[in-house]
Formats: sequence, structure tokens, C-alpha cells
Amino acid sequence: MPYTTATLAEVQRINTILPFSVPHSASGDTTLNGYTIPDDATILVNLWSVHMNPQLFPEPDNFNPNRFLDQDGNFVKHEALIPFSVGPRVCLGEQLAKMELFLLFVSLMQRFSFHLPEGAPAPSTTGNMTAVINMPHPYDLCAVSRG
Ligand code: HEM
Repeated sequence: MPYTTATLAEVQRINTILPFSVPHSASGDTTLNGYTIPDDATILVNLWSVHMNPQLFPEPDNFNPNRFLDQDGNFVKHEALIPFSVGPRVCLGEQLAKMELFLLFVSLMQRFSFHLPEGAPAPSTTGNMTAVINMPHPYDLCAVSRG
């Protein structure tokens, strides 16, 4: 269970689904860290840069669920893992999405084993940006019932 949770956390870290969250805008002239943000300016938050920051996640290009486990194998929440963004407008569906991801992933893993079709290339690990969503490129995969 902790390793599954850590794997899903790492999946969401290494390929942020909404890399720039959703667009926001300033409701008035604002100053932030010395920068002037004019009224109505569109603001994109770069969640991807947080997830790929080597100071927060060493060797960020490596898929490594162990970064979310402590020495006893317990899942450790990392405050810089923010696929649902942060603050007052944080994703309203966060808890539901986490529960669904866990149930779907575990159900699939329990019922099927997965392998590539013979000779098929490995799926791309680079996302495919469609509007604001970072989607996987299409790929072929065989799901074999565990019986
Ligand atoms: C893995 C799945 C999901 C991810 C990664 C995700 C991520 C996000 C992000 C980054 C935002 C923008 C937060 C911001 O503006 O700062 C957002 C907003 C939102 N999400 Fe999700 N979301 C997911 C699933 C869901 C689900 C399942 C629901 C509802 C059933 C949902 C409902 C919403 C709503 C209503 C908002 C707007 C909140 C607001 O502006 O106050 N999301 N989501």
C-alpha cells in the first residue's frame, strides 16, 4: 500500500497533468516579491518547475517512488508535491481524484499484468501538451488477465 501510494505520487510528480495549473488573473494592481502585477494580468503558476526542482526532488528526471518512502517503508507526504496546486483555489476534487487514482490503479494491477506487444517501442515518457493538459502520447499495451 505505501509503495503504491508512493508510485502514484511519483507518476504525478514526473509528469504534471496541469503543468501551469489553470490561468488566474489579478483582481487589482498588486506587488509580489518586488514585481508589479497589473490589474487583470493573466497569471500562470509553474507547477512543473516545482516538481522538477533538483533541490526539492534530487535527480528529478529519474522515476523513483522511493523518494516518497521513509526508511521503514512508510509513505511520507512531501509538501512540494503539488499537482492539485495550493492555496484558496486548490483543486476541489483533490481527495476524490486521489481515491479514484488509487482504486483504479490497484484494481488494474490486481486483475491484469501488462507488457508491450512484441517489438513495440517503449511508450514516450514525455507528455503531450493539449491546451493546458499534459497528456500521454498514444501507445500500445497488452493487458493479460491474471485469471
Ligand atoms: C488527477 C486529477 C486532477 C488534477 C491533477 C487536478 C488539478 C487541478 C488544478 C491544478 C487545479 C487548479 C487549482 C488552482 O487554480 O490553483 C484544479 C482546479 C479544480 N479542480 Fe481539479 N484536478 C484533478 C481532478 C479533479 C476532479 C476529479 C474534480 C471534481 C470531481 C476536480 C475539480 C476541480 C475544480 C472544481 C477546480 C476549480 C477550483 C477553484 O477554482 O476554486 N478536479 N484541479
